[in-house]
Amino acid sequence: MSFDEIIDRVGTHCSKWDKMEALYGVDPKDGISMWVADMDFRAAPCIQRAVEAQLRHGIYGYFGDDGAYLDAIRWWMETRHGWQVAPEWIFTTHGLVNGTGICVEAFTKPGDGVVLMTPVYHAFARVIKAAGREVVECRLARDGGRYTLDIAAWDAQMTGREKMMILCSPHNPGGRVWTAAELRQIADFARRHDLILISDEIHHDLVYPGHKHLVMATAVPEIADRLVTMSATTKTFNIAGSHTGNVIIADDRLRAAFGAKMAALGISGNSFGMHMATAAYSPEGAAWVDALVAYLDGNRKVFDAGIGEIPGLASMPLEATYLAWVDFAGLGMGADAANARVAGEARIAANHGASFGAGGESFLRFNLATPRARVVEAVERLQQAFADVQ
Ligand SMILES: Cc1ncc(COP(=O)(O)O)c(C=O)c1O
Repeated sequence: MSFDEIIDRVGTHCSKWDKMEALYGVDPKDGISMWVADMDFRAAPCIQRAVEAQLRHGIYGYFGDDGAYLDAIRWWMETRHGWQVAPEWIFTTHGLVNGTGICVEAFTKPGDGVVLMTPVYHAFARVIKAAGREVVECRLARDGGRYTLDIAAWDAQMTGREKMMILCSPHNPGGRVWTAAELRQIADFARRHDLILISDEIHHDLVYPGHKHLVMATAVPEIADRLVTMSATTKTFNIAGSHTGNVIIADDRLRAAFGAKMAALGISGNSFGMHMATAAYSPEGAAWVDALVAYLDGNRKVFDAGIGEIPGLASMPLEATYLAWVDFAGLGMGADAANARVAGEARIAANHGASFGAGGESFLRFNLATPRARVVEAVERLQQAFADVQ
């Protein structure tokens, strides 16, 4: 297993490299793709073996008997996150964007407000709006270059029409690992305004030394009667194409409402996804993740050091995730001009900050989960593209 190996993904029908030209105008032949959140690394050998076993079997029927799958989740949550999960709390969806959509349908009605802490993962707003609900953007504050809560301002924004809130923990973008005190403040806010709280913890395994992810369910146990937790193997193990995620609900009433929507939509597990996830949540998978996080830690250090040399650019110190969040506001040239230089001159496809909602406009998000040589190359290209402002 080497994270340094450059693997050509062009022409493999992967979103990251095969859609970069259409979306960002960057030719994959000499461009670097740093947008959507998947990694340019092969999956852990234990996952590849599980897929190969299915492949060799040659029969690709419906999945059944999820005992081993549920037990693997129980083991992972207990050993990696100190959280005891009962198998009957777990719903398996086609990923967590799908899980978000089902939550919107189960816990809100058309016209209801759904609170987001922006800037935040763009698919939340897309799903909420597509379902005819209203996105209520509560802007994160910034303190010492990191995102922080602004609860008093959010309290003042509430109208009573808000029914649900989605927390991104750890936060994407910006990579905050919310502290116990912050999680409590968020839970108190949800209770004060009678909101169902969806805690999307998909990035929970990709946390850097010095920080510890706290599961909302254990950090604030009293919130259980309004809490829905979402997690998945997909971000951690680079198997997002398997579209398999878990929505974990301890409360009977919430579970009944969610289960009813699942049944109405006829959702059942993807066989390959179930096999991959079962193989991932294992001691071998855990060792792979530890090595991955150490490698990503090196990438973020190289990236931040290089960005720190470009006057006017500020990279938020990541506590978790491989998604660097760089503020270009200090250049004073406006987001469109900065975005155009990154795509046109540096030939890098990176997510535009405006798509993450209020507060993201002057940022670009760079995916660092790629061999280090590419990160070094990207930094050099950015330094050159903005050399005239130095
Ligand atoms: C916070 C968050 N939730 C969900 C997802 C996507 O989940 P899925 O691929 O399971 O739909 C992402 C992908 O980047 C994410 O950052």
